Amino acid sequence: MSLAHTLPVLVLSLGSLATAHFAAWHKGMYCLNGTTPGFDDENTNAIVNPLFNMTKDDWWFHHYNGCDEFPPAEGDFLELLAALTLVYRPANGNFTVELTVNRAFTTFSFGGARTAAFGDGQNYTDGLGGLDCISELNSAYHTPKQNESMAAGTAFAISYQSELSAVTPENLVVFTTLYHTPWKRIATYGVPNLPACPEAGCICAWGWVPNGCGEPNMYMQGFRCKVVGKTGGAVLAPAIPPTWCEETPDNCTTGARQMIYWNQFEGSNIFVSGSDSHGSPKSPAYNSVLGFAEGVLGESTYIF
Ligand SMILES: *[C@@H]1O[C@H](CO)[C@@H](O)[C@H](O)[C@H]1NC(C)=O
Ligand SMILES: *[C@@H]1O[C@H](CO)[C@@H](O)[C@H](O)[C@H]1NC(C)=O
Ligand SMILES: *[C@@H]1O[C@H](CO)[C@@H](O)[C@H](O)[C@H]1NC(C)=O
Ligand SMILES: *[C@@H]1O[C@H](CO)[C@@H](O)[C@H](O)[C@H]1NC(C)=O
Ligand SMILES: *[C@@H]1O[C@H](CO)[C@@H](O)[C@H](O)[C@H]1NC(C)=O
Ligand SMILES: *[C@@H]1O[C@H](CO)[C@@H](O)[C@H](O)[C@H]1NC(C)=O
Repeated sequence: MSLAHTLPVLVLSLGSLATAHFAAWHKGMYCLNGTTPGFDDENTNAIVNPLFNMTKDDWWFHHYNGCDEFPPAEGDFLELLAALTLVYRPANGNFTVELTVNRAFTTFSFGGARTAAFGDGQNYTDGLGGLDCISELNSAYHTPKQNESMAAGTAFAISYQSELSAVTPENLVVFTTLYHTPWKRIATYGVPNLPACPEAGCICAWGWVPNGCGEPNMYMQGFRCKVVGKTGGAVLAPAIPPTWCEETPDNCTTGARQMIYWNQFEGSNIFVSGSDSHGSPKSPAYNSVLGFAEGVLGESTYIF
């Protein structure tokens, strides 16, 4: 009897975790309302779906399901508050987004009624319900592995182009990382003294490459953004691909780096083989395995 009562609850809980793909929610994002013209879908997860083995046209800014064709409303920007002092680090400016598996669990839906500490509407006190994704039956499940310290890390990049169609891998530069995410719903990223954007704004992108726990895919989503606060004078250097350098830090590419474009049919900028230092298959990530420093990326990202 008690088992019969317990089981459905467990199944439900696994069900919601099984769809644990993430997006970063903010009014400045593309695809906030979903992909049905004229319909405000409070339950949309269109932007949340991961990208795997797609053509470049399809994965670039989530074109495959049309998300790149649904810009934010006029005047809605992700505002990057630049550091309050005129040094490139440490940065004390920041901006905040919500990392969740569906818009339903953000403050943008249902008046925020379904928001919680974690991105699937739950308030776990012991990791993700104590689940271990390795033994999880559903291979689509790949939230951060087991606990916060195993979460691969996420990042934001910026392009000083106002139109998404003018953004290229070379002008879209990673400027901040948040190690050990996605984990909780609220995620705050540091901002260096980026230069001001053109009048019509910049284009930003959020990225994540989960480590293990399912299909080895990646995430890329677009925003209209602006730099506010103490904007800097230097310009971003052209971005080059990151490289795997966990064992040999001297082999990390430095300076302005591209986002991680991995495991696509076309347009990947990094290829790895073999095992990482934990003995797991190498999985590129916005962390030290590719030489991405924690927090704001430093001086070498700029041309003075
Ligand atoms: C990737 O897509 C190509 C073309 O559709 C297909 O031939 C190939 O098997 C796919 N690879 C993987 C790993 O799914
Ligand atoms: C989303 O839907 C709301 C409510 O209909 C509307 O006010 C807003 O402009 C829409 N946003 C976009 C980006 O279409
Ligand atoms: C974000 O910036 C604000 C304004 O400077 C500051 O008060 C706050 O402590 C910062 N938060 C984090 C998490 O850095
Ligand atoms: C999570 O905690 C918040 C704040 O205490 C609460 O409003 C919400 O109802 C909780 N959600 C769940 C699913 O327990
Ligand atoms: C997180 O999980 C990993 C892998 O199981 C383990 O090695 C590590 O000690 C855990 N960290 C914490 C803080 O529990
Ligand atoms: C590091 O770079 C050197 C020189 O390019 C190369 O020969 C070596 O294979 C690289 N090592 C690794 C582990 O990638």
